[in-house]
Amino acid sequence: MLLFDNIVKNFGGVNAVDQCSFEIPAAGITGLIGPNGAGKTTAFNLIAGHLHPDAGRVVFDGHDVTQLPAWQRQSMGLSRTFQLPHEFARMTVLDNLVVAADNRHGEKILNAIFFPGRGRVRSHEAQLHARRTLEFLEIDALADELAGNLSGGQKKLLELGRALMQRPKLILLDEIGAGVNRTLLSKIADKIIALNASEGHAFCLIEHDLDYVAKLCSKVHVMAQGRLLMSGSIDEVKNDERVIDVYFGGGKYQEST
Ligand SMILES: Nc1ncnc2c1ncn2[C@@H]1O[C@H](COP(=O)(O)OP(=O)(O)OP(=O)(O)O)[C@@H](O)[C@H]1O
Ligand SMILES: [Mg+2]
Repeated sequence: MLLFDNIVKNFGGVNAVDQCSFEIPAAGITGLIGPNGAGKTTAFNLIAGHLHPDAGRVVFDGHDVTQLPAWQRQSMGLSRTFQLPHEFARMTVLDNLVVAADNRHGEKILNAIFFPGRGRVRSHEAQLHARRTLEFLEIDALADELAGNLSGGQKKLLELGRALMQRPKLILLDEIGAGVNRTLLSKIADKIIALNASEGHAFCLIEHDLDYVAKLCSKVHVMAQGRLLMSGSIDEVKNDERVIDVYFGGGKYQEST
């Protein structure tokens, strides 16, 4: 589904991503883990098109998308959530989802001018889709609430809902579980598993809680200092000396590789 191919991204002398390669398979839930500053969010930004690499290729669904802007990747079925939720605080929860569906087309304003009728049909479809999505996520009772009034956990569910509005093939989740209480966390996990099983959405998720990763992910990539340290099952990863070292040992492996 996605190939992250030998990518380099430098920020003023810091190689945030450094010749890093990995794949995200079409069916499945893949984990991306690593200590703070490993380059995980930067990798997501490069995959989604919010950043462009200095070298390397991003191939999505058989197409080289390295030079494409984020909205075009979205319309091809690539969707992401943000580590810090990006909701429109002064809009209702329902409208936040409707707007996310419009974003997918990247042509909203032109359509409104030239095809006002079509815009209305699309808007009606988007409203129905938004309500169904809120029901699925069990936050339909909050449809008319201003998004800014939601709890941290509810905002994470809203992020997931906004990603789903774009009818994605692949959804990137950046720490969707961070700061969320246990009950809501387990609900989000169930929703991800259900979406993967029934709708066939592929997921890649960044998460620090390895028990959560173990519950969800069949395969895990580990990043450290911008590089891919290893890939494997969660058990292989948890028992790998290099991984234990970058998390707990001060990173002597990184120094020597
Ligand atoms: N826009 C930027 N400008 C300069 N440096 C950046 C920028 N974005 C990220 N970095 C640096 O790149 C490195 C990787 O950051 P990134 O946010 O990708 O890490 P991360 O693995 O997501 O960490 P965390 O687990 O803390 O979210 C860090 O050293 C960070 O300071
Ligand atoms: Mg991050």
